[in-house]
Amino acid sequence: MMKKIVLYGTLLFLLSLGLVGCGSSDASTDPNAAELEEMIERLLSNNLLVPLGDIPIPADNPMTQEVLELGQILYFDPRLSGNNERSCMTCHIPELGYGDARATFEKFDGSDGPRNSPTVINSGYYTSNFWDGRAASLEEQALGPIQDPGEMNQPLDELIVKLKGIDGYEELFINAGFEDGITAVNIGKAIAAFERLVVVKDTPYDRFLQGDRDALTAEEIRGLDLFTSKASCITCHQGENLSDNLFHNIGIESDDKGRAAVTGNDSDLGAIRTPGLYGLTHTAPYMRDGSIATLEDVVEYYNRGGDNHPNKSGLINPLNLTDAEKADLVAFLRALGGQPPIFTKPELPGMN
Ligand code: HEC
Ligand code: HEC
Repeated sequence: MMKKIVLYGTLLFLLSLGLVGCGSSDASTDPNAAELEEMIERLLSNNLLVPLGDIPIPADNPMTQEVLELGQILYFDPRLSGNNERSCMTCHIPELGYGDARATFEKFDGSDGPRNSPTVINSGYYTSNFWDGRAASLEEQALGPIQDPGEMNQPLDELIVKLKGIDGYEELFINAGFEDGITAVNIGKAIAAFERLVVVKDTPYDRFLQGDRDALTAEEIRGLDLFTSKASCITCHQGENLSDNLFHNIGIESDDKGRAAVTGNDSDLGAIRTPGLYGLTHTAPYMRDGSIATLEDVVEYYNRGGDNHPNKSGLINPLNLTDAEKADLVAFLRALGGQPPIFTKPELPGMN
């Protein structure tokens, strides 16, 4: 009798410490822990889950110190715009996850632009750039916004004359190894090289995939498991950088032609290049029209099977996630947040 009471007391004491039950990590006695172990094994052997490696660097644009410094100057220099007021950082602000925290960008005339300013984070991992993939590389991409009348409104031939007239600029190009000095191609190369420094990797997710089983919490592991199974996010968000680099229409109701504007194919109407998911905690609002404010809302969106664009992909369907499952999925997405490097405006030539 006495012994029983003592045992019972000990059990209560252990329960109060959280040493038995759900919190336990002893797989041999706890069914939840055993399930988690199974999940971990399944996830670690899923070859669509790949830790993010080093960013690919084109052979003809090495990331030397001089090129990177020049790229940083160009990225932050408002003289790259027609009215000398806008730089890349106007819409890709380091402290705002290299986006602008707006649904869509503010045009040169102050009105709302057609698309969301995507983050620069990890943009060097894509096989094409822009929401519709119309640029083949960051080098090519960088020259787009400079000339775009709604963005920086600066014709390139005039820009080259302008920069050549600024004391010290041409010298920076020459010192960076650009023998032909200030040209559009070299401007694109230097900015692109700098952008390849804006990377989020080595997140808890990556460390988990490398075998550190404690890098993710149980909630995040369950979220990742849902990501690869019931929620089927991995159908498109897969491989390095969690993007298949393909174009899909996830059902957002919008007149935006998406990929069809590039290919001319009706089957591509509203299709967008799958975004990577690193750095997400810094880059709200989401989607190419900035129509979704939070990660919780993103998960709700997918859970209801998206909205009703007539060209919606057959891969987007209602998911029937429970509230707990939605929370797990969001927890996993947050584990991809990381901390992007914060670059600041350097001293600009001719501006002291
Ligand atoms: C006025 C706002 C604005 C300015 C200024 C601006 N951008 Fe953008 N940026 C955008 C928008 C909007 C998009 C998406 C456009 C689209 O997909 O059609 C974009 C797309 C991008 C992308 C593609 C990312 C991806 O996911 O593929 C990169 C990289 C980028 N910009 C870098 C730059 C650089 C470098 C500069 C300066 C030379 C710059 N931007 C200037 C708004 C801006
Ligand atoms: C059919 C392919 C596909 C599936 C399945 C899919 N996505 Fe996406 N995802 C995309 C595309 C394409 C976009 C960009 C859509 C747009 O902007 O119009 C996107 C956008 C996102 C964004 C916003 C990223 C940003 O930078 O704005 C998040 C977050 C996201 N998806 C998470 C998920 C999650 C979580 C799941 C699973 C519940 C999922 N996706 C399933 C293709 C897919």
